[in-house]
Amino acid sequence: MSAASAAELFRGTFGAEPCGVWSAPGRVNLIGEHTDYNSGLCLPIALPQRTFAALRRRDDDLLRIVSAQGDGVVEVELGDVGAGHPTGWAAYVAGVPWSLRTAGYAVGGLDVAVDGGVPLGAGLSSSAALECAVAAGVSDLHDLALLATSSGRSALAAVCVEAENTVAQAPTGGMDQSAALLAEAGRALLLDCRDHSTEQVPFDLAAHGLALLVMDTRAEHALVDGQYAERRESCEQAARELDVTSLREVSVDDLSERLAQLSSDLLRRRARHIVTEIERVRETVEALRHNDFPTVGRLFVASHASMRDDFEISVAELDTAVEAAVATGALGARMTGGGFGGSAIALVRADAAEATIAAVESAFADRGFRAPDCFVVTASGSATRDA
Ligand code: GLA
Repeated sequence: MSAASAAELFRGTFGAEPCGVWSAPGRVNLIGEHTDYNSGLCLPIALPQRTFAALRRRDDDLLRIVSAQGDGVVEVELGDVGAGHPTGWAAYVAGVPWSLRTAGYAVGGLDVAVDGGVPLGAGLSSSAALECAVAAGVSDLHDLALLATSSGRSALAAVCVEAENTVAQAPTGGMDQSAALLAEAGRALLLDCRDHSTEQVPFDLAAHGLALLVMDTRAEHALVDGQYAERRESCEQAARELDVTSLREVSVDDLSERLAQLSSDLLRRRARHIVTEIERVRETVEALRHNDFPTVGRLFVASHASMRDDFEISVAELDTAVEAAVATGALGARMTGGGFGGSAIALVRADAAEATIAAVESAFADRGFRAPDCFVVTASGSATRDA
């Protein structure tokens, strides 16, 4: 997948030259899971893996969409796009011009050819990469200039979240789109989801002899299957019972007293994950600023335990990957993203990456799991125009 392959698919499908090609990256979140929709903090990096979208403006309101990973051309009138329509991957494309129009931007029909380099179903935000690549293109093609400033990019991220929540009907929180549009190479993006402020945190592991390993368990994950929504509802209910606007308003200092006010043990565990996880993001940023990587590793491990035991979003494959990585000497490891499958990450010494991969593969084989796909990643750049 490349700008050239997306352009080639465009030409082959629509018999014309695209006006340009744009791309956006997948992400891994270093820490701060399920905190975004609790107005909390999270710390994603953009991946080197990107999705490319070749686009051409049309004079009418028709959307024609083709994907190298899909089959056939999807056609839909922009006026017919809305809640739950179209379905499947095309929702993440068609939702973008729909959302821009809903937000008051004058946008029309498009021909779109996409080629995705972010693994699907791996919890690495292939859907946000797709939305954001298309959004970047539509912004440029209609001279909206939203890529030029960070406030414009934040506005574009909000548009993509609306597309995902309404058209694709995935009630996600916005971290992925912000990462795809705002992350910088060599840095992690500290997102404050209460006031939408961002900070770039140095994240150059190679300079410290370290590497970040992604372990895609290939246990498929989906955000539209109800579990994600159920976690979100529990958090909202806990906030209501505590009479706060979001769990972000609960301080870790009086956490035990606050938890005691909740009506069930389940809500206590869900809320404890969110409040302690937000605190772990703060501590991780502090440790990164001091190049204190052993502390970062310990925070990863604590975060994983919290997701496994309190938030209950891990699965056996994720636990196995994390345990095998830590047993082989990783400084720390944790599942990343929405959970229920998908990927875990491990912070490893660069010269131990291969041995860690081998240990994870062998632990998977022992347990009879599908072979995982493990690879080293570096913090990469956000959505751009490529051609
Ligand atoms: C998915 C969602 C994000 C976020 C994470 C969990 O990736 O798309 O909004 O909630 O799960 O941190």
